[in-house]
Amino acid sequence: MLAETVAETVLVVGGGVMGLSIALALHDRGCKVRVLSRSLQEGASWAAAGMLAPQAEALPPGKMLDLCLRSRDLYPSWIEKLETIAGQSAGYWASGILAPALQSKESAIQGFGHLPDEWADRDRIHQIQPHLSDAVQGGWWFPQDAQVDNRLLYRALQAAVVAQGIEIQTSTVTEFERSGDRITGLKTSLGDLQAQHYVLATGAWSQALLPIPVKPRKGQLLSVRMPTGATPEDLPIKIVLFGAEIYLVPRRDGRLVIGATSEDVGFLPGNTPSGMMQLLQGATRLVPEIAHWPIEEFWMGYRPVTPDEWPILGESGYKNLTYATGHGRNGILLTPITGELIADWITIQRADPILEAFHWSRSMA
Ligand code: GLY
Repeated sequence: MLAETVAETVLVVGGGVMGLSIALALHDRGCKVRVLSRSLQEGASWAAAGMLAPQAEALPPGKMLDLCLRSRDLYPSWIEKLETIAGQSAGYWASGILAPALQSKESAIQGFGHLPDEWADRDRIHQIQPHLSDAVQGGWWFPQDAQVDNRLLYRALQAAVVAQGIEIQTSTVTEFERSGDRITGLKTSLGDLQAQHYVLATGAWSQALLPIPVKPRKGQLLSVRMPTGATPEDLPIKIVLFGAEIYLVPRRDGRLVIGATSEDVGFLPGNTPSGMMQLLQGATRLVPEIAHWPIEEFWMGYRPVTPDEWPILGESGYKNLTYATGHGRNGILLTPITGELIADWITIQRADPILEAFHWSRSMA
């Protein structure tokens, strides 16, 4: 039996990786959870490339890097548990990430020294990753950064939620009904719904429901098919390559994800010729052979970004509403830690001290 102050019924608004991870963590702690999902392919969960890259993203020392490193550390055990519940692979790959540079080490400084990284000189980098352009002079090697096939992850989370008997419903929430400092219910396409506690995890669409500073930042991506050998070991690219405004993320099945643009164009839909050209030029500059590999797919999505590009997590201005949104470029990376911190906050009212840095009322200028 949960303590008196603890929420027993929780409505999670948002069925992306964040909402599902929170739902599973709440279920683990004894809550009765229901997830409301709009099922959008343009949500960041489906559109992302799945890099787990706090180091390659060059996050400066501080609370955001701390949060991202904690989540990267959680990944292997969290995935193992998730795969056991879901009965399917979630596509985690501790591949390491290489940041090839078209200039010398001095002008390519990217490591922060206090974390494990290593400069690979010209000979070494071409040995670690054949097929790179001759123009690559060296690069940073981040052995602890990794990747997850976010679409497999998303499917595994959906399967785990179903396996745990958590209700997940497709519906559109149109309003959070409020009275004083409490949320009293949701107006939805399924009718009016109530719970003791509510979680807002609607990513780029958060501002449509509550006045918080989260806006969409569009990312366009495409994928090509690598020539495959008999096993994943034969793939021409087996390490994530993180270049300047371009990244290449190989999947074990031979797909190579190429991302991503970063565009402040609101919810403007569609892939554009200039977006595709930017990606293809960046990709072939790093690996010229890509020019001959068949294009498989192109797509786009909306990252949920805040003015300071840190997420909004935990307490809201309402006693029974918790925020988990605005994860920007790092949503897939932050999925495990967000689930754990938010579920602890809701069920035992234990705010991990790190949550303070991600409070909605902070200055985000
Ligand atoms: N995580 C990389 C991106 O958002 O493009």
